[in-house]
Amino acid sequence: MPLNDLFEQVKNSYDIVEVVSNYVKLKRVGRNFVGLCPFHSEKTPSFVVSPEKQIFKCFGCGIAGDVVTFYMKIKGISFKEALLNLAEKAGIHVDNRVFIEKKRQSELVEINYKIAKFYHHLLYFHESSEKAREYLKERGISEETIKIFLLGFAPYEGRVLSGYLRSFKEELKKGEELGVIKKGADGSYIDLFRGRIVFPIFNTKGECVGFGGRALEKDEEPKYLNTPESKIYKKSEVLYGLYQAKEFIKKENIGFLVEGYFDFLSLWEKGIRNVVATCGTALTERHVKILKKLSENWIIFYDGDLAGKKATLRAISLFLKESIFPRCVVLSEEDDPDSWVRKKGLKEKELLNELQNMSTDAISFVLSFYKKDYQINPSKTFKEMIEIFKPVEDPILKNQIVKELSFQLGLPENEIFKCFSQKTPVLKEQSLEENSEISESKEDICFKIIAQYLVNYPEDFPILEEVGLTKLLEYNNFSKYTKFLKYLIEELKKKEPKIDYVPDLEFQEILSDILLNPPFEEKEEVLEQIKRFISRELAKKELKKIAENLKIFQSQGAKEEIEKYLWLLKNSLANKRNSHINS
Ligand code: UTP
Ligand code: MN
Repeated sequence: MPLNDLFEQVKNSYDIVEVVSNYVKLKRVGRNFVGLCPFHSEKTPSFVVSPEKQIFKCFGCGIAGDVVTFYMKIKGISFKEALLNLAEKAGIHVDNRVFIEKKRQSELVEINYKIAKFYHHLLYFHESSEKAREYLKERGISEETIKIFLLGFAPYEGRVLSGYLRSFKEELKKGEELGVIKKGADGSYIDLFRGRIVFPIFNTKGECVGFGGRALEKDEEPKYLNTPESKIYKKSEVLYGLYQAKEFIKKENIGFLVEGYFDFLSLWEKGIRNVVATCGTALTERHVKILKKLSENWIIFYDGDLAGKKATLRAISLFLKESIFPRCVVLSEEDDPDSWVRKKGLKEKELLNELQNMSTDAISFVLSFYKKDYQINPSKTFKEMIEIFKPVEDPILKNQIVKELSFQLGLPENEIFKCFSQKTPVLKEQSLEENSEISESKEDICFKIIAQYLVNYPEDFPILEEVGLTKLLEYNNFSKYTKFLKYLIEELKKKEPKIDYVPDLEFQEILSDILLNPPFEEKEEVLEQIKRFISRELAKKELKKIAENLKIFQSQGAKEEIEKYLWLLKNSLANKRNSHINS
């Protein structure tokens, strides 16, 4: 039985209302049931279950899905486990080939593991590996730690790994897909990592999904290289060391969050095992959700410089959003956890005590970060400060924060409450928003509406296609809604599109969210708005592309090309004006 059929069968065997009722007290309201959301704390119910659509959604925290997703989330297990458990309980026979679709993914995981072991082997046996071992020793990393984390060495020659992969049929292509080798200009493969210490990155199941590599030579740029995202590597949800550390975090019921491979390894080496690191990307909401499952107590332990402090502020905000009140360790400007730990020379209990003594609560951290600015420009600084706390949903936590801020700053509580509920302007100040993904952009909302429209009125797809929907999506690769729309369009192009069911988990959430939103009241009006949005955005993007090309040709002095693009630009400006007139 294919995975999709099993999924359908499991869903058909259960009534979502019954399943949810085991965990949430539900009350009937009209066509739906409502209750207190089990996934975040709330006083008024915003958790809705639709018996007709067999889906749930919390309008408070945004979580949504079907019976399988509910079971998965409430039990804190994987999708596969949830599906199999529910199937077993319903007496559905599952044969082993169900997860055949996952096979390709597991092939990639296997190759990655092979590569990790290969690099690990080279660390000991390659003729030029002595320097690498020496380097690790100097940085205080023991043999035992090297083995636990399968650290490796990528030699300086560019074709060591590609040569190794060539010896296995078909694996060059997969190696390329994983980003560990690249095709050069002459069509031959060269290795991504050259002259680097290699850190295999494992997901929570212990599967090797990617790699980081640190340059051995002092001035080599970039200092760290990471393999790109792939089918098996989603950076927003993978944390370095989590696989090895998770049981320690659970046991201690507290964890340290650091930002670098060596910061992680240094702590581990000194006997602090309840630690994880982000690797090469900023912390995301997904990361925090994963951390929350292990413990609700977290200590942010980032670099002492300004960048580290700003990253701490961002992390605080993300933790607060998940109702976790983190603590922070503040280092002096020139230190990072690794250098600090090694300077201190402490181990285990003493180190832990020292760290706990040095840590402050999140509010104190924020206040001391903004202290100087607050004295100079209180009003602007206060606004910036409050942005960090705004994502807090938990009313008790919110109260606590307001009380503390009021006490520390000498401001009346009700004034602070007022600021709390003021909407953040859509175009946020640049303060800590370099790569924040806290809220949906205006564009995102438009794409969401388009998705909602297409789910409800798939027959209108050709109309949107005519004004250039697919083309516009080519320019927008990043948001979850554009990804969902691309999926939806592929489906709509099929003879028998199945759009009330999607296999992908993230897409499933979007779909159930869309299905639970009320239908459009003025369908025709919405259609017109969408058409205008598409043509306007498309014109904008094309204009931008032309302008960019023009710049390149200008810098190369290519006259004919410049003429051609000026002509295109003129045309496109005319189009843009028309679309503005129309709108
Ligand atoms: P840092 O620049 O603070 O490096 O980057 P570090 O951890 O102190 O490195 P060492 O101690 O000099 O070896 C912190 C983390 O940011 C990512 C890496 O995950 C790194 O551990 N990073 C940094 C990159 O991905 N690329 C870079 O070029 C630099
Ligand atoms: Mn460092």
